[in-house]
Amino acid sequence: MNSLSNKENLIVLAIESSCDETACAIVKNGREVLANVIATQIEIHRRFGGVVPEIASRNHTLAIENVVKEALDQAHMTKDDIDAIAVTYGAGLLGALLVGVNFAKGLAYAWHKPLFAVSHIRGHIAANYIDSDLEPPYLCLLASGGHTAIVKVADYQKLELLGQSKDDAAGEAFDKVARVLGLPYPGGPEIEKLAKCGTPRFDCPLPHHTNELYFSYSGLKTYVINLVHSFDQKGIEVPKADVAASFQQAAVNQLVDVLNRAIKQTGIKKIAVAGGVSANLLLRSEFDKLAKQGCDVHYPKLKYCTDNASMIGAEAYQLIRSGSIESGLDLDACATVLINACYSN
Ligand code: KG4
Ligand code: ZN
Repeated sequence: MNSLSNKENLIVLAIESSCDETACAIVKNGREVLANVIATQIEIHRRFGGVVPEIASRNHTLAIENVVKEALDQAHMTKDDIDAIAVTYGAGLLGALLVGVNFAKGLAYAWHKPLFAVSHIRGHIAANYIDSDLEPPYLCLLASGGHTAIVKVADYQKLELLGQSKDDAAGEAFDKVARVLGLPYPGGPEIEKLAKCGTPRFDCPLPHHTNELYFSYSGLKTYVINLVHSFDQKGIEVPKADVAASFQQAAVNQLVDVLNRAIKQTGIKKIAVAGGVSANLLLRSEFDKLAKQGCDVHYPKLKYCTDNASMIGAEAYQLIRSGSIESGLDLDACATVLINACYSN
């Protein structure tokens, strides 16, 4: 139990710094965002073609104090209005995570507030609760830069991993294919933009169709890389828009195929999607088709699909309500976290 599990209204100040966004949010009762501040480092990392961990940590350190101050200003609040501090402890870049974790520990100590450690992955799933009445049980398709999985959310704090990628994550494949096509980081939105001008005329490979619930993106990625190289070798201009459209179609088809199998196997027709790739409009249009077929479909708002701290506040609320114990000031960051795990000392 924690001291807040029965408090009527809960205001959580949440911090997220797992990759290249320094973020702070203030969230009321897990569903209402009072402040959402994100200092993005995308422009800084773009010139390197991806996130440079050392540079990310340094920029988190520079940004975090102002980001937290701005969140309090946005919500017209002071520390006295905050009931708890929440922070992403993993998964992510260790050095980047440590900046958020240490800042959150400092705040909890100085302000005498309880501290809660939140899994970034669970945060992505909880983004679906913001401004929404979604309740478990439901199936969640998680597709981010680091993870691709089907999760059965049996209850707010009871996640069952039904299947995941055997190799690359979907977002990682978007980023790598974008790089080969000469598009800037992050690749997902760039592929989506380019694909709009193209035709999905290349027959991209799909993993073997079985009843197993798993994803695999390395074969698709290699196919696209080889396709681009074969155009280059022949001295033919790469039809980039068609390649992007073909890849995107195949990547999305795979996500939806596995989700469909999970719906059939579990009989659960309430579905949600989470993680950066859930911002993809082709994927969302496939979800709309499932809604027409009788599924109860939920998505996070676009601004809560990619990394943000509101989702961490949303998950922290559920963690607190479930009676989870507070973290101590010995809380440590963790680069890898199992999808269905909670923080434990
Ligand atoms: O969830 P996220 O912000 O970070 C992780 O926790 O990994 O996901 C980032 C990933 C990147 O790989 C990015 O290319 C991808 O999500 N992404 C997209 C789109 N927006 C972001 N992929 C496809 N279409 C998009 N619109
Ligand atoms: Zn993320």
